[in-house]
Amino acid sequence: MCRTALHNFLRDLPKCEHHVHLEGCLTPELVFDLAKRNGVQLPDPAQQPEFQSPATLHQHYEQFQSLDHFLSYYFLSMSVLQHRADFEDLAWSYFCQAYEDGVRHAEVFFDPQEHMHRGVAYETVLDGFGQGCRRAERELGMSTKLILCYVRHLPLDDAMQLFVLGLKRGDFETTPDGPAKIAGIGCSSSEIGPPKDLFREIYVMARDKGIARTAHAGEEGDPSYISAALDAYHVQRIDHGTSLADDAMLMERVAREEILLTVCPATNIKLRYMDRIDQLPIREFMNAGIRFSINSDDPAYFGGFILHNYCAVQEAFDLSAKEWIEIAKNSVQGSWVGDERKAELLRMVDEHGLRFSEA
Ligand code: ADE
Ligand code: ZN
Repeated sequence: MCRTALHNFLRDLPKCEHHVHLEGCLTPELVFDLAKRNGVQLPDPAQQPEFQSPATLHQHYEQFQSLDHFLSYYFLSMSVLQHRADFEDLAWSYFCQAYEDGVRHAEVFFDPQEHMHRGVAYETVLDGFGQGCRRAERELGMSTKLILCYVRHLPLDDAMQLFVLGLKRGDFETTPDGPAKIAGIGCSSSEIGPPKDLFREIYVMARDKGIARTAHAGEEGDPSYISAALDAYHVQRIDHGTSLADDAMLMERVAREEILLTVCPATNIKLRYMDRIDQLPIREFMNAGIRFSINSDDPAYFGGFILHNYCAVQEAFDLSAKEWIEIAKNSVQGSWVGDERKAELLRMVDEHGLRFSEA
């Protein structure tokens, strides 16, 4: 909990989350539970002492040195996910926590390529996570969307085959709130190394078919990774985009084209991109009229869920309630939902602002 006067206001502010990896919600406790449930052998603590217990694994997560270092744990821990129910339970655990933190609309990433690579069927992953989404809609009244994330470190052919499979099965939504299961595509994992336009062909096909698009860019990489995502992938969003502030012309373009940045404050500290949250270009983005949302990315690894990130920003920047209402409204506008749900979410934000100003 933050020590700011706005803590309760921030807790109750209706939020949209656009950047959270469901696999990044696999807490050490869940890793150990699911390993036991599924008979999966975790690394031998004699070789890797961090796998002694959930507590030692938590401690180890304080010491990531880089994105790739974090990713090695993220991919290893996923091996405990075997059955449809495991994926559903993981999604449900995220939605419950997110709901408590005030999330009312959640767009969540998942990495099917990674699971298929270790022998888990696409249907198992999609059905399991899909069930978790349906349960959150039914029992919590949230709106939810799945975003399929291609990973840059696995063969490009696998990504293309996965895209074609999704197309054939009719899995992708081409209109907001359409009946299909996946709202859009994204891409993630190691940023520096693979070609900046690795998934060009997939993204061009996705655009032609009216499928929504986002991409992780400008997280570890310089602003040229962001312009490559805009030019080659025609994305409507940039995930992270922190390095955008290093290129004034590109900032103007992002503002003009109304690209939403999905900023993940805690990631920047935990992966050592910066020492302090106040080094994030939040004020620069606001002054340049750039729309952004605040997100948790991999809450099981980076110290907390979405409210933790809102509070960190508030402690660093001391924003006003009015500025937060603006951020909340921008994140509704940047959501991949139909007009009716957008209007509902905007109304919830306005009502919250009104309640606060009358209190
Ligand atoms: N996959 C999960 N979290 C990620 C991050 N922060 N950057 C790139 N790929 C990821
Ligand atoms: Zn991410």
